[in-house]
Formats: sequence, C-alpha cells, structure tokens
Amino acid sequence: MGKEEKEKSIMEYETVALDDEAGAVVIIDQTLLPTKTELVKLKTAQEIWDAIYLLKVRGAPAIGVAAAFGIYVLACQTDTEDYDTFYKEFSKQRDYLNTARPTAVNLSWALNRMDRVCRENSGLTVGQLKQRLKEEAVAIKEEDIWVCRQIGEHGLGLVKPGDGILTHCNAGQLAACKYGTATAPIYLGQERGYGFRVFADETRPLLQGARLTAYELFSSGVDVTLICDNMSAAVMKNGWVQAVFVGCDRVAANGDTANKIGTSVVAAVARQYRIPFYVCAPTSTIDLASKTGDDICIEQRPAEEVTQMWYKNRMAPEGVKVYNPAFDVTDHELITAIVTEYGVAKAPYEESLQEIFRRRPER
Ligand code: MRU
Repeated sequence: MGKEEKEKSIMEYETVALDDEAGAVVIIDQTLLPTKTELVKLKTAQEIWDAIYLLKVRGAPAIGVAAAFGIYVLACQTDTEDYDTFYKEFSKQRDYLNTARPTAVNLSWALNRMDRVCRENSGLTVGQLKQRLKEEAVAIKEEDIWVCRQIGEHGLGLVKPGDGILTHCNAGQLAACKYGTATAPIYLGQERGYGFRVFADETRPLLQGARLTAYELFSSGVDVTLICDNMSAAVMKNGWVQAVFVGCDRVAANGDTANKIGTSVVAAVARQYRIPFYVCAPTSTIDLASKTGDDICIEQRPAEEVTQMWYKNRMAPEGVKVYNPAFDVTDHELITAIVTEYGVAKAPYEESLQEIFRRRPER
C-alpha cells in the first residue's frame, strides 16, 4: 500500500473501504489525482481526521462513510469489557472526528448514527457492540450506493438525450461510493445511450472539477469538456447547457443550499439564461435543523490554497489578504428543484422537503 497503482481505471477503485483485518479505513488519496492513484490506510484518529481535513477523502457522502468506518476502527482499538469505559472513549473519538470539517452535515449525521448504535445496545457485550458498529458502517456505505442510483433515476427524468449538462466541483463517484449525486443522472444516461455533453467547472481553488470530475467522467467515456469557473456564462449564453446539476454539503429546511464555493454564481448565471438549476441531495445531506442558509457554518480554509497550492510558483504577493470560504449558500429562489433518493422536491421547500422525509424510513 502507498505504492502507485496504475493499470485499473479510477472507476474500479472504491472511494472508501474497510480493511477489517488491518484495522484500517482505506481511501484513495484524492489530493494526488489525477496523476497518481495511491491507496492509503488510516488507522489512528489523527490519520482519519487529517485525511478528512486535508481533502484526501472529500465530498459529503464519502466523508460520512469515512467517519463511520473510522469510528468503528477506533472503537475496535478500545480494549475493555466495560460499557461505560468503552462509550466514554467512543464519545471522545466521535467528538474529535466531528471537528474535521464543519459544513458537510454527513459527517455528524454518520457519527450520530454510529453513536445511536452504542446507546441503543448498552446491554450487549463490548465485542457484540463492535460487531453492530461494523454492520452500521457497512450499511451506511451500501445505502449510499442505493441513494445515488435513485437520485440518478429521478434526475434523469429531468433531462433528455443530447442535453448539455454543467456541473461544479466534484459530486461524482469520488465524492460518494458509486455514481455520485450530481453525476448519477449522467452515468445512468451514459448506460442508456443518452449522449449527454457535460461541462465541468474546474472549481478554484482546489480544482475538484478539473482533477476529479473531468477525470472520472473522461475515464467513463462521457463527453466532458473542462472549463474555467469564469466560463460558465459563456457556455450557457452559447446555448450549450440545458441543465445544471450540482451536489451539496448541507441543505436547510427552506431549501437554501451550501455547496462548493462558486455554486451560487453558477445558479445566478443559470437563472439569467433560464436554465434549470438542480441540486442533487441525499436526505442525509438535508438538515431540517438548519432553518435557512444563515444557520449553516461555512468552512474557512488556509490562504495558501488560493495563493500557492497546486502551482509550481506562488501566484500572489506575499502577505496579501485572502478570503477563502470553502462553500457558499445558494438561495432557494435560484434552485429549480432538489433531487433526492425519495423524489424531486420543488418550492415551497419547507413543505416539499418535509414530504420527502415522510417517505424516508426511520433510521
Ligand atoms: O471541499 P469538498 O471537495 O469536500 O467539496 C465537495 C462538494 O462541494 C460537493 O459538491 C458536495 O460535497 C457534494 S458530494 C456528492
């Protein structure tokens, strides 16, 4: 492991996996893509936290799965038969992992699911409890694949063969376990010969669109064209885009949506050219406790991501002030629909998202 792997397509790798024998979460180090495919085994709390914070594993659903496997791996390291001692240590690790990234609600959502397993099974032996935690983490991963496929089916109903689709950042397979969210309609369309033409925004500052979305779509044989972030208006004005699909990190009860920085600009431009703007959202990313976008904490990241990371030479004067929010909030008025695994929600979102949750089985 840690050795460069070459022969397989990126689509054949698992974004996040569990190596139970090694007591590790296995991820592709996404900061090295597309030039190098390197699998990394995460065993300690610090390694898991760093991998999430440094975006080695990123994208809301993948962060949730990594946290679920991560807390299970850490729980297995607690050597006690006493439930209270076990749960105290579990809670400490849960709280620590939960600080890695604040905006993607899937992190706390997955950790809360794992926590509930502990609280509801306090009568089991610690060994049995560890087994239940493993089952829950595996279920979170398996559900993600089903969820993304369902989003793909619902999203595909919103477009037609030959359409041009624009996407921002990476809400693809590399951000989830299979299909991705915003890319799910594209992959399902590809399976069914829809012949979409996709435009991928490069997504400054960390280039998830160029390094990850363009890479995975291109590797899958999708007709994808990479554009700089400031080119979306041009391709829309040219009439090349019939729909925008993006992912999300947290959707508030009123439909306001936090996603990668720059998403709200795309939404505003799409409105200008009367192009539908769709947010693809697993219900695990919808946070009804956040009433509006104002309640969503926006992650601020280091200035170096803007001034020098990914460049051979520094691209900004030393000491210049930098503002680097990792996400922005798209106002619900700009969102044509929110595509979930249980159907498509439209305004007024306070009502339609509640209805979506009524369709969801209790977990
Ligand atoms: O900072 P990142 O790379 O984790 O940001 C990812 C995004 O903004 C995605 O669009 C979002 O997490 C949805 S992934 C299905």
